[in-house]
Order: sequence, then structure tokens, then C-alpha cells
Amino acid sequence: MGLQDYRIDQNNMPKHVAIIMDGNGRWAKQRKRPRLFGHNAGMKALHKVVHTASDLGIEVLTVYAFSTENWKRSQEEVDGLMKIAVEYFMKEIAELHANRVQVRIIGERSRLPEAVRKSAAEAEDLTKDNDGLILNVALNYGGRDEIVHAVKSIVAEGIAPEDVDEEMISKRLYTADIPDPDIMIRTGGEKRLSNFMLWQNAYAEFFFDDIWWPDFDEDALYRIIEAYQNRDRRFGAV
Ligand code: FPP
Repeated sequence: MGLQDYRIDQNNMPKHVAIIMDGNGRWAKQRKRPRLFGHNAGMKALHKVVHTASDLGIEVLTVYAFSTENWKRSQEEVDGLMKIAVEYFMKEIAELHANRVQVRIIGERSRLPEAVRKSAAEAEDLTKDNDGLILNVALNYGGRDEIVHAVKSIVAEGIAPEDVDEEMISKRLYTADIPDPDIMIRTGGEKRLSNFMLWQNAYAEFFFDDIWWPDFDEDALYRIIEAYQNRDRRFGAV
């Protein structure tokens, strides 16, 4: 299968696709391998999807790589995921840059290990002027945490309650200058938002796929975009 097998209207592409990459652990378990083997396979799936999204002319891709709740996993898994993050930023960066991808990190960085912060900052710095796909990698990200930060900054600025509006909050989120997601995908069969872009997903079209993340590929994305284009988005109107 390939792009030609789907009815995708290039004039009605989603601008922003957000993905909860779930199912790495179960994918590994099925193969009787450790969970980190699944996360490594997940990194390869991410590589493919970034390419596909970029080729399709999608403007923003946001991926949930590590949540504020993921610290509760075993030390071995947390350390392994951090190592994968460093590896991703170091190994993929040249190719991402060549494809004009702009890498951004969203989430609370202060708790991330130094090596992750450093490699992420280098990736962001190298790609900051690129005009292609914006790739937001959510690391130590929590949707509620993000809103709390925004509210704190409004209070700290001494803004009067009657002057607070939605735009004021939007502008203080990690995604300040980018459009809200049109599509929110969660793989792995679970049907939850798990604290992912709570504010920004207000009008997103949700797609829950039973595929485990390492098996997600070009066709899975084409299929979802085709289905998205057949949905009727009314944003609250009739
Ligand atoms: C959820 O699957 C997945 C994660 C918590 C990690 C996602 C990370 C990657 C896809 C690797 C790429 C990462 C970076 C930093 C670029 P799960 O482990 O909860 O799966 P399960 O529900 O089957 O156990």
C-alpha cells in the first residue's frame, strides 16, 4: 500500500497532528523481549512518521514521548527512555535538519537529566530557523502542569481577573505560536487522553487505533488522514 491507495485531498490537510505513542511495552512483551526493546522500536516508528508527516506537508507534529507521570516507572525504564531521547536527538538531528524539520521540546525541562537537556537544546538550536515540519517532542510534559504554569505567569504579571481571556492562556502554553491539533491519535487500544494537551485538544478529532506504536507506519497515518477528511468538523456550530 502507499499514498496512491488512499483518497487524500492535499487541499484539506490537517495542520497539526498530535500522537500518544502507546503500546511499546505490549509490543515487546508479545516478542518476549524487555520493555526497552519496545521503546527502541517505537523510536524507529517515530522516524518513519516524521518523514511521512513532513512529506505530506503537515505543519506540526506533536508526539508524547514522556509524561509527568512516567517517572513512576522503574528506574531502569526511565533511564532507558532518557537514553533513547538523547540518542534520538543526536542520531537523527542531521537528517531532520536536512529535511528542514524544526525540533522543539515541550514540557518541564528542569527535571530532565542534563544529557537530555543538552542534546535537546542543541537540536532546537540547530533547527530553529528551519521552515519545514515543526516537530514538538513532549518530554516531562503534563497538560495540567502546563495550564498551572500559564495561570501562575498571569498572576505574577498582576493581570486583573476581568482582563483574563482564552488567548491569554493559549499564549502562555508551550504551543504559544502554533495552531491547535486537528487530529489527536492514540495507538495501543486505550481510549484516554492521559493529560496530553488538555487545552489544545479542545476541538481535535480523536482517532483511537488498536495498533501498537512500533507497528504504526505510513499507511496507518494515511488511513487516519483519509478518515479525518471524511469527518464533519463543526466547532460547536450546527
Ligand atoms: C507508551 O507505551 C510509550 C512511552 C511512554 C514512550 C514513548 C517513546 C517512544 C516512542 C520512543 C521515542 C522517544 C523519544 C524521546 C524521541 P507503553 O510503554 O506505555 O506501552 P504499554 O502500554 O504497552 O506498556
